[in-house]
Amino acid sequence: MALHPASSTGHQRRPRHPLHGLANPVLGEDLVVPTERLAEQPLPAETAYRLVHDELLLDGNAQLNLATFVTTWMEPEANRLMGECTEKNMIDKDEYPQTAELERRCVSMLAHLWNAPVPERAVGCSTTGSSEACMLAGMALKRRWVRRRQEAGQPADRPNLVMGANVQVCWEKFCNYWEVEPRTVPMEGDRYHLSAEEAVARCDERTIGVVAVLGSTFDGSYEPVAEIAGALDDLQETKGLDVPVHVDGASGGMVAPFLDPGTVWDFRLPRVASVNTSGHKYGLVYPGVGWVLWRDEDMLPSELVFNVNYLGGNMPTFALNFSRPGAQVVGQYYMFLRLGFQGFKAVQKASRDVATWLAGQVERLGPFQLVTRGDQLPVFAFTTRPGTTAFSVFDVSRRMRERGWLVPAYTFPANRSDLSVLRVVVRNGFSRDLAGLFVEDLGRLLPQLSRQSGPLEADGGAGFHH
Ligand SMILES: Cc1ncc(COP(=O)(O)O)c(C=O)c1O
Repeated sequence: MALHPASSTGHQRRPRHPLHGLANPVLGEDLVVPTERLAEQPLPAETAYRLVHDELLLDGNAQLNLATFVTTWMEPEANRLMGECTEKNMIDKDEYPQTAELERRCVSMLAHLWNAPVPERAVGCSTTGSSEACMLAGMALKRRWVRRRQEAGQPADRPNLVMGANVQVCWEKFCNYWEVEPRTVPMEGDRYHLSAEEAVARCDERTIGVVAVLGSTFDGSYEPVAEIAGALDDLQETKGLDVPVHVDGASGGMVAPFLDPGTVWDFRLPRVASVNTSGHKYGLVYPGVGWVLWRDEDMLPSELVFNVNYLGGNMPTFALNFSRPGAQVVGQYYMFLRLGFQGFKAVQKASRDVATWLAGQVERLGPFQLVTRGDQLPVFAFTTRPGTTAFSVFDVSRRMRERGWLVPAYTFPANRSDLSVLRVVVRNGFSRDLAGLFVEDLGRLLPQLSRQSGPLEADGGAGFHH
């Protein structure tokens, strides 16, 4: 949530339309509604609905939003089911035991999907999204490291976490909030994510873990999890350092199992201690659900799990929040039931087919070159060719917005902050037809953009953390 300053101007007032709700059009009613403080009197529900509804028309169109990884469409049955559960609080496991049971089943399904050696021994929970899931996984890494150090009679201060500079902002938050030194590996040349060699070079006895991202937020590429794990195995053999891996599979955790069975990245690698994913990304559920699983109970220090008994039962919880909507977990279980393995595979394949096709079309337009091709996550990043001097990726982003397309442009992190890209995220529901319209619109813009004497939009210096 953005941190909002309260308005210093007190309040604004807006006239109410005479045909809204109970207003009498002939009286020229001068009722106005304050927006910065509570009104003195209530409004009729219909009027309040209309005011809020109308204002929200200014939001972008979710389906044309190629910036977000998050699900923007679910089928009517899912909407109905989730609507039936809006009042259920996920934490009230005693009052809503069946919702809790569906959560447990989802964890079990993910344990199987991610090849936990003994799925029954895997432990996990739902969260509000991958950010919370990553916080929990990071806390478990830190606590296990502290425990090990204390048991060995060694100092347990100044822990560090090794990861690529391309990690999503949640890992920077984790390090900041939980006082862990972030050891970020910068990008170099054409290497846009973590490599095994660079990861191992930064590990020492104070490293609580290495984060490997399956599906980089910046360009959709998979980090080489198996290579990283292998290099850490060697490190243990040569130097005796036992550094676990957490896989941030926010997107890839729900893509790779279906489309890339030969890519070994999950609990098949003994070094992988935990994995997270966003149910609300390629898990195909509306925003508000993530998952984190540990290989087995040994990976999750028991003192982090609270047993809460004041809601009528005794329930173990590991979460940053207490109350949280239950509907999203129900939506996740519905999607698992509805699609099964082959259904998920078909949906993700359709997205990846569109992504790779669209990447090829963008490349053929001429002034652009691809950074990634959409053949890992259904996501690709592209930039302007060296000879393209009349416009920048920021110009393209702004002009495409005029047609309703939301395509973010941003600079890469250190050491490639010289590279600015546009990124397209293809999600369920972004059809080949829409992709065709996108490329037509982009092609139609090019003559105008090429007539510019130079880029109009420079990067405002803002980093990109989507
Ligand atoms: C790799 C990665 N990790 C974590 C996150 C945070 O996920 P969420 O939005 O579910 O909190 C994202 C979001 O894009 C991501 O791409």
